[in-house]
Amino acid sequence: MSITILGIESSCDDTSAAVIRDRQLLSNVIAGQEVHKAYGGVVPELASRAHQQNIIPVVHRALELASLSASDIDALAFTRGPGLLGSLLVGTSFVKGFALSRGIPMVDVNHLQGHVLAHFVQTEKTTEAPAFPFLCLLVSGGHSQLVLVRDYLDMEIIGQTIDDAAGEAFDKCAKVMGLPYPGGPIVDKLASEGDPKRFTFSKPRLEGYNYSFSGLKTSFLYFLRDELKNDPDFIEKNKNDLAASLQKTIIDILMDKLKKAVKDTGIKEVALAGGVSANSGLRNAVLKEADKRHWKTFIPEFRFTTDNAAMIAITGYFKYRQGLFADQSVTPLARMPF
Ligand code: KG4
Ligand code: ZN
Repeated sequence: MSITILGIESSCDDTSAAVIRDRQLLSNVIAGQEVHKAYGGVVPELASRAHQQNIIPVVHRALELASLSASDIDALAFTRGPGLLGSLLVGTSFVKGFALSRGIPMVDVNHLQGHVLAHFVQTEKTTEAPAFPFLCLLVSGGHSQLVLVRDYLDMEIIGQTIDDAAGEAFDKCAKVMGLPYPGGPIVDKLASEGDPKRFTFSKPRLEGYNYSFSGLKTSFLYFLRDELKNDPDFIEKNKNDLAASLQKTIIDILMDKLKKAVKDTGIKEVALAGGVSANSGLRNAVLKEADKRHWKTFIPEFRFTTDNAAMIAITGYFKYRQGLFADQSVTPLARMPF
């Protein structure tokens, strides 16, 4: 018997609803929040207010695009954490009310697990999903993890950032350059015209698979401060080379640990996930390494790299099959272990 799941994502600044039937995607609607642009980062209070405004129209549209009504939904999946508490609360409360009124089960989902399992959403474009076990480099604005994935619901974080996330490093350094938020995609664009070897910035030396980006941010800031003293137009004159050199440093930090993990575990199935996996430099670095060392790589469709409810719905599907349900006492968790 097929199962139709409505997934809800509201952990940060995107309100999203998606419908899947078994593993097949029927709809995936995402409402971003422009309101944060003026502040150079996500403002939690504004995010939860925007979720409240968006959630009903977004769910309505997702059902409409799937040509379904609320009575066709068998179960609800929602992001329980990690994320901004006020934002998570909107999705969680909505799902509780929906589940209660329709008498259907709820499945709570870990947002990070969702990013990893986005690879298993089936669309008309789907080719092949990674085979277990695989390594997943999960890099976004809020998280940077290296995950060993043994099965759909059996994952282990083997490495992670000890301070800023990779996307945060892109965004914070972009802000220092005077670029708008989120700076990651703009740095990516500027970098394509720049020389990545022009400037060098400090890289951390950490044991194991953990990494750090706060030193890079500081070194970037001090470097620009010194250069601007000599030439107030330094950033404008060198923005492509600055972006390319910054991007190369972030990618080198990520790739060093990924290469080490592949070597140590012998696992050559390598997947990318999270917003930063949209970065063209990172994609190229992974593909180049894959070619050289015979890795099999999996890079999701762009719409599944950033926050979306399709990844929550698919994770809900795998949990549903195992009978892993939440009850009405469930509460969101700002920090949530795997
Ligand atoms: O997964 P996501 O939408 O949200 C979080 O869960 O954090 O990721 C957003 C992050 C932002 O930091 C953004 O700057 C970064 O992904 N990002 C990129 C690119 N596209 C998005 N960073 C570098 N290059 C890109 N092309
Ligand atoms: Zn995310």
